[in-house]
Formats: sequence, structure tokens, C-alpha cells
Amino acid sequence: MESEVSRNPWRVLEFYSGIGGLRYSLLKAAVDATVVEAFDINDVANDVYQHNFGHRPFQGNIQTLNAADLDGYNADAWLLSPPCQPYTRQGLQKGSSDARASSFLKILELVPQLLRPPSYLFVENVVGFETSDTHAILVDILEKNNFVTQEFILSPLQFGLPYSRPRYYCLAKRKPLSFEVPEFNCQLLRTPGPLLGQTESTMEKELLLSPEYWDELLQACQPVDDFLVFKTFGNRKDSSTYSFHANDSVKSDRIDEENDVCFVPSSLIERWGSAMDHRYCLSSFKALLLFYKKLLQICEGYWLPVGNCRGNFPDKMTSLI
Ligand SMILES: C[S@@+](CC[C@H](N)C(=O)[O-])C[C@H]1O[C@@H](n2cnc3c(N)ncnc32)[C@H](O)[C@@H]1O
Repeated sequence: MESEVSRNPWRVLEFYSGIGGLRYSLLKAAVDATVVEAFDINDVANDVYQHNFGHRPFQGNIQTLNAADLDGYNADAWLLSPPCQPYTRQGLQKGSSDARASSFLKILELVPQLLRPPSYLFVENVVGFETSDTHAILVDILEKNNFVTQEFILSPLQFGLPYSRPRYYCLAKRKPLSFEVPEFNCQLLRTPGPLLGQTESTMEKELLLSPEYWDELLQACQPVDDFLVFKTFGNRKDSSTYSFHANDSVKSDRIDEENDVCFVPSSLIERWGSAMDHRYCLSSFKALLLFYKKLLQICEGYWLPVGNCRGNFPDKMTSLI
């Protein structure tokens, strides 16, 4: 969003602030903005947010806010990342009839009542939101209240980050503000081109959905180890210094290079196995292999994620591949 609001810094409200991912993005984008309030119901998330930003969000149900409360902040921009469970493809996809959608619907219903509506809105959610009835309500309310919108499904891979995580994003500006490339208003785009000032969508939808496109992006990404911090527990940074083996009666904790067999302590898998489920990590098998290969180099052969391995472990060690 280019700097069109005359008032600087922007006054920003962050709804569903969690641990502050959107605030962090705002900082990274170097927008001249101040988060005047953040809202989240979860006290642990608020602890983390406070640790990260030195500001404790308003702790309570967003559903209890009214138009006067929101007008009181006189905000230029709203950032909203409402709960994704009503829309995720891994869930029941109940949309607006899911109770977890209520607070977002309530906030949207307040928009027509505002005396000082924001000039900008940014909404983030999972893929699946764009086909939901909540999405239909969002765009309807925005349109009726003088906002223009551009919508995207984008993944960090498209920005050179080695992480395949497509997400839905909606940018909205209140007229007379407008987008640099208005041809893309009211469309769902799968390329960041228009955000980068490109005047035409050079890529066809089919191409953007093709595995080749995603493979190419993956190859162009910065390596995973650019984003990781090594932690050694001994003097040497070699495989024997990683202490998570300490409590396991491990016969051999070295990778068997000949057979490419890797082992991981059962305690680790029992604790983190479901989080390591590759189906949630990356969508394409090739991407997955590249990711594992890189990870393997980084971790010097210590673990490889498995499929859903819960409840299926030998006593002490599990052979993974
Ligand atoms: C998808 S997460 C947002 C993540 C956030 N963008 C971040 O960077 O961590 C949704 C957040 O909304 C909060 N939440 C859900 N329903 C809420 C409600 N009715 N009122 C306030 N916060 C709510 C949850 O506690 C959770 O932190």
C-alpha cells in the first residue's frame, strides 16, 4: 500500500493480533505507522506479543467492540487475521455458521456505522476463505461502503522465501483512494505482479497453478539455512554435539550414509511427530525432497520427518527412510 494518507504515521489497529505477525510485517515493510491498539482474546498470545513489542494487546473478545469504541481510535488502517478454522480445507468449512466466524462478521457489520472508517484494510486468511460465504459478506460490505479491493492468493515462495504456504490476502482502500493498477480490482490474483507495479498480468492462471512454476520458484529461493540458527551444545559443531540424543539409549546416532537411513529418538517423534507430518509441510513431493535434502545437510543427518507416524514407533528408535 503506497503512502497516500496525509497523516503520518498511520494509526493502525491490529485485530486478532496473536503473536504479532502482521505488526512485524508492517515493521519490515517500513511503513510509517504506529499500532495504536491490538486485540486478542488469548492471554498466552498476548504475553508473547508483549514480549515482542513491549505493548500488551487489549485482551478480550473482539465481538464486544462497538462502533464508538472503534471510532475512538481514529485509525487509518485495520489489519485483520481472523480465525481460519471455519474456512480451512482441513476442517468442516462451515464458514459464517461456525461460531469462530462471529467476531469477524460483527466487525464487518460495524463498518457502515462508523463515523471514522479506516482508509485501508488488510485481511489475511487461509486458502478456502475466498470461496466462503464470509468472503461474500466481506466484499459486499466493503463495496457498499466505498472501498475498492484487490485480492490475492500468494505464497512466500513467490517472494524468494523457501516456504510453501499459500494464503488469501485482501487489500481494501476507501475511495477516493485507488490502486495503482485498477484493472485488477475485484479479482483474485495469484501473482504479486500488480503489487510490484506491473500493469498487466503476464501469467495465465494455468501457468501459475502448474507444478513447473512452483518448482522454478523453489529453485530460485534463498536456501533454508539462510533462515536457520545453528545451536550447538558441545564444543564442536558436529553431529555428536547435538544433545537431544542424551536421554535415549542410542546404539548408533550417526547417519548410515550407505543406506541413507536416518534415525530419530522415539521421545522426539512422540512429542513432535504430528508436527513433522510432511503433508502439512510442503505440497509437492519434489519440493519436499529438496527441503529434506537441505535440512539433512544442515542437521548433519539427524532427523527426517515422517508421514503421520503417531502410535507406530519401535521402542527406542525409528527408521525413517
Ligand atoms: C489466525 S490467528 C492470528 C495470528 C496472528 N496474525 C499472528 O501473527 O500471530 C487468530 C487469533 O485470533 C484470536 N481470536 C480468535 N477469536 C477471537 C475473538 N473473538 N476475539 C479476540 N481474539 C480472537 C486468537 O486467539 C488468535 O490469536
